[in-house]
Amino acid sequence: MTSTKEPVSGTNEERHLRPSLQDLMNTTMGRRRLLAGGLGMAAAGLFSTVLPSCGSSEGKNPVDGALPPPRTGQNAFAGASAALLGFASVPAIFDAAFDRVMVAEGYQAQTIFAWGDPVVAGAAPWKKDGSNTAEDQELQAGQAHDGMIFYPFPGVSDRGLLVMNHEFAEPATLHPKGATIDAEGRRPIAEVQKEQAAHGVSVIEVRRLPAGQWEVVKDSAWGRRLHMNTPMRLSGPAAGHARLKTIADPEGIRVLGTLNNCASSRTPWGTYLTCEENFQNYFANADANDLKSRREQQRYGVLASSELKWETIDPRFDVSLKRDAAHGGHVNEVNRFGWVVEVDPFDPEFVPVKRTAMGRFSHENCECFQDADGNLAFYMGDDSRGEYLYKFVPKSRYDAKNPAANRELLDEGTLYVAHFQEDGSGEWLELTHGKNGLNSLNGFADQGDVLINARSAADHVGGTTMDRPEWVAIHPQSGEIYVTLTNNKNRGTDTGRQAINAVNPREKNLYGHIIKLAEDGRNPRSKTFRWDIFVLCGDPNAATENLKGNIQGDVFGSPDGIAFDASGRLWIQTDYDDAAPENQVLGLNQMLAADPNTREIRRFMVGPKGCEITGIAFDPEHKSMFVNIQHPMLSFPASDGVTRPRSATVVITKNDGGVIGS
Ligand code: FEO
Ligand code: CA
Ligand code: CA
Ligand code: CA
Repeated sequence: MTSTKEPVSGTNEERHLRPSLQDLMNTTMGRRRLLAGGLGMAAAGLFSTVLPSCGSSEGKNPVDGALPPPRTGQNAFAGASAALLGFASVPAIFDAAFDRVMVAEGYQAQTIFAWGDPVVAGAAPWKKDGSNTAEDQELQAGQAHDGMIFYPFPGVSDRGLLVMNHEFAEPATLHPKGATIDAEGRRPIAEVQKEQAAHGVSVIEVRRLPAGQWEVVKDSAWGRRLHMNTPMRLSGPAAGHARLKTIADPEGIRVLGTLNNCASSRTPWGTYLTCEENFQNYFANADANDLKSRREQQRYGVLASSELKWETIDPRFDVSLKRDAAHGGHVNEVNRFGWVVEVDPFDPEFVPVKRTAMGRFSHENCECFQDADGNLAFYMGDDSRGEYLYKFVPKSRYDAKNPAANRELLDEGTLYVAHFQEDGSGEWLELTHGKNGLNSLNGFADQGDVLINARSAADHVGGTTMDRPEWVAIHPQSGEIYVTLTNNKNRGTDTGRQAINAVNPREKNLYGHIIKLAEDGRNPRSKTFRWDIFVLCGDPNAATENLKGNIQGDVFGSPDGIAFDASGRLWIQTDYDDAAPENQVLGLNQMLAADPNTREIRRFMVGPKGCEITGIAFDPEHKSMFVNIQHPMLSFPASDGVTRPRSATVVITKNDGGVIGS
């Protein structure tokens, strides 16, 4: 194995890159034309030789079972029959002082982009003492890096845009002395604004240097930050709904910001889907009776007081009726979060849009499955205990020749929730107003009502409660849909809606599992599927049955991020509390690769103490892999025992320049 001490990022040399960027655009089409046409045009016209058709797995999605075409300059994508795991296991690490990244022998990891690094041209440098202002933070990398997609520039693999989510603020490191509160119980507005600015999305330009290292291109024209105060719009069936209207937006179509952006995905037309996960944690309703009367709040877990207490100083986060009267009408603000948000990284003038047709819940990611005829399905986890797996099927087909039409594909279609039968079959239950009892007699006045209350609609039609569905990945050859169920301590202890079932078979499920589904006929529009459990996580030698896993290979738990590469390796990332007694057997959080044919799983990487490993992206040749280290605890990536820890992106490369994992 190789233990790496990463150089601190943000030390890129001053370079004059705009001319080369301009050259790049001049060789294809002018940037104005690119902007005017949007990325749909870019994806269809410029990127057709290098962009996979859809999904965050970077792999070609199945087209009637066809293998992905070989990529230029290498021969690594020979299919899934050869031995897929071409590296030696990294041992588990149990050292609570471990403050680095360890990758398999023959590989190296380099940090390129950490919290506070400049994103937008002119941004202030990161200050080690946490004294950057909210205004600084709006132009710098946010915290808690999560889902991530690499968008190569046309015809190249060594330069492009890296787009990533910043899931949450980490006040202990964000501010000089952590979060504070005044004698009246209010948060200082400057701290709240900085926390809001630390959320959202970063768009950065990255490139590989001749020596093989990667760097963030300084002052790139593409650098962009979205945060909690970036203007966005609502579209689809719920846009303009009465429950989306506020004093600031009486039409219910405009929103400020996105938050708790967890995982992300790519559309076939080349846009970025950022998913709003635990939005409820940012809003508060201290009026218990009012809260109880609001399904949109109670079913989603809004509490009397929020984690960060923004409501004490920023009235739009206080969603009680009482405060609503005093502050002019923010009670519906919480309903404007919990959506999938579409972003065009190549078009800064494209206002990010919340696609309400895809439902409101704790969105984890949104993986796309496409068939040869352009039929699409987007699979989405709702990561809370006992919540559901959904899919959205656009009404119209994807047409690579009609970019303008593709722009609206996510506004019209059908939302389904998964129902798993005990016999290995399954059914997609439609969440459409007027069907399956979703009518006003049962509390659903219209389709907007169904979508805003997607969880209640899924309850009503009889979806199967799951053990916290996180990421979804689609096998590039078989078209099978893999889903991580990270864990669920309530499984079976709640013998009502969270009773043990065949697809969630372990009481308390401390270590989680991965399932796979196959749509009948490999049809994204299928209303039925078959399912199987791919692996039960946890130590196969554990003393009790509910803790015992059936892993063939290295032990892990709480699978979260997953993605296939184009050869069919399944990369698995973990997110567990490495200080919890039940997780001591696992060591620190890790990334592994599975061979879906043999079911062997090998550990490829271990992260620093306290972190979660998340976010997977590849360059088109799969010779570089981007991974995020989220919320490290000690001093990573400086790893000097002194500097405050920062969430960061690392790039993994093979020392011989080969394909990752081969
Ligand atoms: Fe943000 Fe469910 O992970
Ligand atoms: Ca996650
Ligand atoms: Ca997780
Ligand atoms: Ca996380």
